[in-house]
Amino acid sequence: MQKEKYTLITGGSEGIGKALAEECAKRGMNILLVALPQPQLETAAQHIRETFQVRAEYFGVDLTEEQAPYQVLEWVQQKGYQIDMLINNAGFGYAGAFEDYASPQFFDKLMQLNMRALVLLNRLFIPELKKQPKAYLMNLGSMSSFQPVPYQAVYGASKAFIYNFTRAIRVELADSNISVMALCPGGTNTNDINKARNADLKGLAKKSILNPEDIAPRAIDALLKGKAKLLTGRINRIILTISKLIPLNTRLKIAAKNLKPQQEFKQTQDASQQEKVNV
Ligand SMILES: NC(=O)c1ccc[n+]([C@@H]2O[C@H](COP(=O)([O-])OP(=O)(O)OC[C@H]3O[C@@H](n4cnc5c(N)ncnc54)[C@H](OP(=O)(O)O)[C@@H]3O)[C@@H](O)[C@H]2O)c1
Repeated sequence: MQKEKYTLITGGSEGIGKALAEECAKRGMNILLVALPQPQLETAAQHIRETFQVRAEYFGVDLTEEQAPYQVLEWVQQKGYQIDMLINNAGFGYAGAFEDYASPQFFDKLMQLNMRALVLLNRLFIPELKKQPKAYLMNLGSMSSFQPVPYQAVYGASKAFIYNFTRAIRVELADSNISVMALCPGGTNTNDINKARNADLKGLAKKSILNPEDIAPRAIDALLKGKAKLLTGRINRIILTISKLIPLNTRLKIAAKNLKPQQEFKQTQDASQQEKVNV
């Protein structure tokens, strides 16, 4: 008898990951959620089971821990889950000056989650995906994937890394059964910090903000169609097209002016804290 297939989504308990999980479940896919071991993870899995009548299981783990990506694979293999879609969504950002904003450990953690865990999960799960007749792999980039981002320097660089990595392995896997896509959202109303920041925006920046539920159906459609990337939102696509016509130095000055935090918002994050600002 053929085993049931699952879609595995990291960071699937909140925000964009949760919306992607629900969109997949709506289409009849069984779901595996991987996120921090917090009560909302179990609640999210239960909600998916009850609402969409599909299987939904979860694994709570801090993906910044050294062994975490290996533990995710071990869990999947021990349970005998067959994965035909992997969505690497877990990630976090911040807004502030590189030198003042946070401890070195904070940036270490950001890189562990946004880049190390993502690369290892790709590497560990591609052999699993290859066992299926057809499989899909999505990594979460951002609008920040496309240029350096002053005052979000490490976050922006991590998203450029993800985008370049994803486009490169897509080519390497072109003759395989796996379709690879980079999802690059602009500002999205997810956690409370993002919502508060987005509420303060003005003009085009405010109009460009989307909700996770707007992004998810388009993202899954694009992935299933075999697209290489999806930049969400018409305004974001226009901004990106126009920005390509502007010299990089000028773009950097504009970004710095818009993103430089007010003095009173300066704060120090320690390594135990993750800020939830993403762009
Ligand atoms: N929101 C935006 O404006 C925006 C724009 C562009 C790109 N993105 C990207 O989209 C992705 C999701 O962003 P979001 O705004 O939806 O985030 P979010 O609402 O903060 O949710 C993040 C998810 O990742 C999980 N997570 C966080 N740290 C983790 C860790 N160390 N180990 C395991 N799981 C962890 C969280 O679990 P808990 O619920 O337990 O905390 C949660 O499920 C990120 O990669 C982000 O960079 C977001």
